[in-house]
Amino acid sequence: MSRKKILVTGGAGFVGSHLCERLLNEGNEVYCLDNFFTGQKQNVVHLLDNPYFELIRHDVTAPFFIETDEIYNLACPASPIHYQYNAIKTMKTSVMGAINMLGLAKRVNAKILQASTSEVYGDPLVHPQPESYWGHVNPIGERACYDEGKRSAETLFINYHKQNNVKIKIIRIFNTYGPKMHPNDGRVVSNFIVQALQNQDITVYGQGNQTRSFQYVDDLVEGMIRLMNSKDSFTGPVNVGNPNEFTILELAQKVIELTGSKSRIIYQPLPSDDPMQRQPDISIAKKELDWSPKVNLDEGLIKTIDFFKSII
Ligand SMILES: NC(=O)c1ccc[n+]([C@@H]2O[C@H](COP(=O)([O-])OP(=O)(O)OC[C@H]3O[C@@H](n4cnc5c(N)ncnc54)[C@H](O)[C@@H]3O)[C@@H](O)[C@H]2O)c1
Repeated sequence: MSRKKILVTGGAGFVGSHLCERLLNEGNEVYCLDNFFTGQKQNVVHLLDNPYFELIRHDVTAPFFIETDEIYNLACPASPIHYQYNAIKTMKTSVMGAINMLGLAKRVNAKILQASTSEVYGDPLVHPQPESYWGHVNPIGERACYDEGKRSAETLFINYHKQNNVKIKIIRIFNTYGPKMHPNDGRVVSNFIVQALQNQDITVYGQGNQTRSFQYVDDLVEGMIRLMNSKDSFTGPVNVGNPNEFTILELAQKVIELTGSKSRIIYQPLPSDDPMQRQPDISIAKKELDWSPKVNLDEGLIKTIDFFKSII
């Protein structure tokens, strides 16, 4: 078996650490690059004994060179409190990170996958969102550093492909949850679980009738690997997410039920630019990658709750 050399940027983060582990288990050599802004060594510490795993402290806004066959470009804070902390840095990470990693892919002839996001659709006017929808994004809003950074990265990817024949893949990831999410990053699933386990009030913004679709991390990792291994002519963008829609209120109630918590639900005003609805149209992923999510919300929440019980 030939051992592929694979670079994962943002590899010490929530999704990246699951991806590194899966790629190593499949017999690859994995280089995990991270500046540890939101990622943690703890997420990958169990991989450090593996001789085919290397952890590299580096910031993707600076150039980086390594011989590699594939690059998964995940480096970028993903939760609003972290990406808004330094909005300029967030854009630099998306844009300069994409330029640096695309330059590397071009130089060493590696295939490169960009972790894009459903946020490129903004507050969508089309529901569910197909990849052909151009989105409804406020370029000067609170979320713009992330949304527009990711949109620019997609533009860079497609143009490196057209101009320089770089083999690219763009995945648009919808809300993903699972073990190793950062406990304090304000994302809805981790928030609710932590609040429920501590019997604190569960905060729902607005009336809680905004909907989200929640994808378990194993399903995402499977989709990413299938996309990387798909035929070269298929570049994406491709939506990868779970189309089962729940309201935020339903999620809160489910978490309370599964944790047996005494928490009460309280309501706070809706933040600006918070999308009301988000649901992936996954027809392309089904057709091109033969992919669809396998883990249902209860099953995924139970595994995630077990993880949070072990760390708080
Ligand atoms: N989790 C989701 O629901 C979701 C949804 C859509 C898209 N995504 C995308 O998937 C990727 C991973 O998300 P995640 O949920 O694991 O988030 P995360 O914050 O846990 O992981 C991001 C990782 O990137 C690292 N990083 C940030 N800036 C960096 C820089 N300048 N140089 C090097 N490393 C840097 C962080 O330290 C962290 O380890 C991100 O690109 C995110 O935009 C995630």
